[in-house]
Amino acid sequence: MRVLVTGGAGYIGTHTAVSLISAGHEVEIADNLVNGKAEAVRRVEEITDTSIPLHVVELTDQEATDDLVAQGSYDGVVHFAGLKAVGESWREPLAYYENNIGCTTSLLGALARHDVKMFVFSSSATVYGANAPVPYQEDYEPLEAASPYGQTKVMIERILRDVAQADPTWRIALLRYFNPVGAHPSGRIGEDPKGIPNNLLPFIAQVAVGRREKLSIFGGDYPTADGTCERDYLHVDDLAEGHVAALDAIARRDPGVGAWNLGGGRGTSVLQMLRAFERAAGRELPHEIVERRPGDLPAFWADTTRATEQLGWTAKRTIDDTCRDTWAWQSQNPQGYPEE
Ligand code: UFG
Repeated sequence: MRVLVTGGAGYIGTHTAVSLISAGHEVEIADNLVNGKAEAVRRVEEITDTSIPLHVVELTDQEATDDLVAQGSYDGVVHFAGLKAVGESWREPLAYYENNIGCTTSLLGALARHDVKMFVFSSSATVYGANAPVPYQEDYEPLEAASPYGQTKVMIERILRDVAQADPTWRIALLRYFNPVGAHPSGRIGEDPKGIPNNLLPFIAQVAVGRREKLSIFGGDYPTADGTCERDYLHVDDLAEGHVAALDAIARRDPGVGAWNLGGGRGTSVLQMLRAFERAAGRELPHEIVERRPGDLPAFWADTTRATEQLGWTAKRTIDDTCRDTWAWQSQNPQGYPEE
């Protein structure tokens, strides 16, 4: 298939581009390069030994988006483009609503006009909110999310269901990611957060490479085995392969909308993650237990039955694989991608 990957210069987008190309798809990337990097796309070209058109475009610009889709002859779209920092979304909610929802409706309009009706959306486990029973199952309702970022995911899922209800020829996958971590084993592409990392693995990796003094563990008194929070960490290459499986599945299934959890189906604590990273880096890493971070849930992970049965996909890589690959990326690129 000819696939347009929006947000394809970002962390999950680049890894998904590699998996799509490895599976025989043709890929083009659209990105506004606010978080994504052109250098990351160049490295995907190097890993896959292909040439990938990079369209630098604001998807909120309806005319530019229409032009992009009009020239592309795409069969399907994997839509990652959007702002993604939970904390920032509390400070700048309008930016999140305008950008994430605006770029999705603009894109959907262009796709409808040019009859491209296969769409994979980058959703999040955050749509289950604070009250869903663990493990999270796809048919849980009502969807709600604490942060403005999470609310944009809930709203876009709703928009996509409405679009498919109005035009039943759409084939749409809502992929609810758990905690994406890791990097391509080559160490050439990986997660390169702006400023101080909010997420656990990038923070630990920056401690290991000497950019941060020590890890603060947010809370040691949760009702979990070792007192620290548990999450369902998922290697980004497993996640990327989940997108390829979802695209194949919606192409062969009846049209309509499906939601699938992409997770490993098990919880790992912050301390277990730290220990695994210490094994990968070959040394102990400074850390201290501090106050809980507001809004954190004690423990959640995915029920992955539906993805296994309907997509034929399961996560294969271990936490040790994940930490080894993150360390390969961080140690080879201590400051992330070079400035452009
Ligand atoms: N943590 C620390 N220290 C840090 C960073 C994180 O102890 O410096 C802990 C957190 O308290 C949490 C765990 O590590 O227990 C994981 O935290 P992350 O920030 O890596 O991930 P979250 O589970 O908080 O975030 C994820 C996704 C978001 C999503 C959010 C909703 O990354 O996209 O879940 O809860 F919105």
